[in-house]
Amino acid sequence: MARSLTSLAPDSAAPASRTGSAADELRAGLTAAAATISPKYLYDQLGSSLFTALTLLPEYYPTRCEAEILREQAAHIARQVGRVESLIDLGAGDCVKAEKLFPVLKPARYVPIDISADYLNDAVARLRHAHPGLDICALGRDFSHAFELPEAVPAEGRLFFYPGSSIGNLTPDEALGLLQRIRALCPGGGLLVGVDRVKPRSVLEPAYDDAIGLTGAFNLNMLRHVNTLLGSNFRVEDWRHEAHFNETESRVEMHLRAACDVLVKWPGGERRFARGQSIHTESSYKYTVEGFASLLREAGFDEVQHWSDRRDWFSVFSARA
Ligand code: AVI
Repeated sequence: MARSLTSLAPDSAAPASRTGSAADELRAGLTAAAATISPKYLYDQLGSSLFTALTLLPEYYPTRCEAEILREQAAHIARQVGRVESLIDLGAGDCVKAEKLFPVLKPARYVPIDISADYLNDAVARLRHAHPGLDICALGRDFSHAFELPEAVPAEGRLFFYPGSSIGNLTPDEALGLLQRIRALCPGGGLLVGVDRVKPRSVLEPAYDDAIGLTGAFNLNMLRHVNTLLGSNFRVEDWRHEAHFNETESRVEMHLRAACDVLVKWPGGERRFARGQSIHTESSYKYTVEGFASLLREAGFDEVQHWSDRRDWFSVFSARA
């Protein structure tokens, strides 16, 4: 197999500047009538470590459920997806989930894509060592917008892998848009995607508001990240983490609620929050099997198939483009 190729795009992976689109987006969210901060700002260096840690919490079931499905159903999944020339891993992070599929899917090429090029670089260095025969084409990109794949990734035999129920952090409309873009990029190929299911509030809410406060730290840490990106003066101690299941929208929402009257300032702007007002920081949509299968079909996929864990809490879907 060809020697590894890495084309981490330094421009898209560089830290956002205070004048760049990140600051514009943050200002727009903070000054909206119902204040929001995009969940992507949860992930600075500490935020990414806190996320990795919270996947080990007894309350946070999705990671374990998905691992169970990929482990127990690997042979069925491999049979369903067929020959894989390029395994394209969206939000690859440490690449560990995809790596577990290498022995069953046997891709000729691995294409990890992640907004954090630094994180990817470390993971790719390790993978090159562990899998010297595998062609690796790593891309430091934000795939939430339109993106292309380089010529080094042939159009035939592409399988997109989007695990972790990250698709749940998009609104259903955004998810549909992403699925349509993926489909356009893999004619004749396919998609393997992890999706969290609707379940009782008594399971969902502790998963996003755990007993030792790790998810709270993950949510609050976002304010420090925003201070760095925007030059704002959020004080973490003025805010409280909250999570609840919004049954009407079928999503778990995370918020940061002001514990006192707060005036947040940044260069050129400010926002006053009365005690009790909140900032919506994340939505995590939960799907029924039928709901997600019809989203896939609406995006133009067919041969939709799914596998679930033993409690029916999480599903991995495969679909053909
Ligand atoms: C990354 N994403 C799928 C996680 C989720 O479950 O929505 C992020 C997360 N938020 C709180 N805990 C984990």
